[in-house]
Amino acid sequence: MSRITYVNGAFVPEEEAKVSIFDRAFLMADGVYEVTTVIGGKLIDFPGHMARLKRSLGELRMAVPADEAELLAIHRELVSRNALNEGLIYLQVSRGVADRDFLFPPEGTPPGLVLFTQALPVLHRESVRRGLKVASMPDLRWARRDIKTVQLLYPSLAKTEAKAKGADDAWLVDDQGFVTEGSSNNAYIVKDDKVRTRELSHSLLHGITRAAVMSFAAAEGISFEERPFTIAEAKDADEAFITSASAFVTPVVSVDGAPVGTGEPGPVTKRLREIYITESLKRAV
Ligand code: PDD
Repeated sequence: MSRITYVNGAFVPEEEAKVSIFDRAFLMADGVYEVTTVIGGKLIDFPGHMARLKRSLGELRMAVPADEAELLAIHRELVSRNALNEGLIYLQVSRGVADRDFLFPPEGTPPGLVLFTQALPVLHRESVRRGLKVASMPDLRWARRDIKTVQLLYPSLAKTEAKAKGADDAWLVDDQGFVTEGSSNNAYIVKDDKVRTRELSHSLLHGITRAAVMSFAAAEGISFEERPFTIAEAKDADEAFITSASAFVTPVVSVDGAPVGTGEPGPVTKRLREIYITESLKRAV
């Protein structure tokens, strides 16, 4: 079934959804994006995603294409026009259309805004029951990974290489041997009931799911230690997991072929997933 998408002010069938070849996101990866999950037709963590979008735009001195109320209305319209019950909404802002030049185009160049839906199961996934296998790879991305840009070539390459090695995803490792994050998710280990994840910095994306899981968990008395960990520590952990808008909290059961803990999804991970689903659904808009 053809989807209805949103392209620069208009709702159009996907076959008619077109942008210029001079769009800077196309030529220079000069764009930022957000992915928001939809469950039961409602948006999960929407204010968080919009706050991060604003921050990404600000860091890159890009124009804000629409305010939060307008963006919420567009998201809701897409949910409604596509009868989307469960899946994702992808939003991308580009610096706009301009003749190819390394200089940013003049102030006042209208930003591009596109959104589309992806219907897919989020709540019930085989990966959650089974747990993911991850393979470590050097983190060869740029140094501002806190900005959610559309420069996704390296994460895409890393995930593809991980698949070729028989894993489900890549965990990226910095020059000091510490895990930064997954190809498109934040990474965690659990050791002696303590949950550990890298502290926020320019080295990793400030996950919206990460922030929500941490705050819901704190209310349940589960605290997180924000400190980097190595692949050796991950192999020696009791449990490991990832978070993202689309994966929520998903267990990791092996790292570079070595089982983590029992090699099965662990209890702390399962509990955090339950807490996240319960609490985020209550707040869905
Ligand atoms: N990815 N780290 C990276 C590099 C990511 O691309 C993502 C999200 C995350 C998790 O962020 P959040 O919890 O806000 O989704 C961490 C999205 C889902 C994607 O690219 O599809």
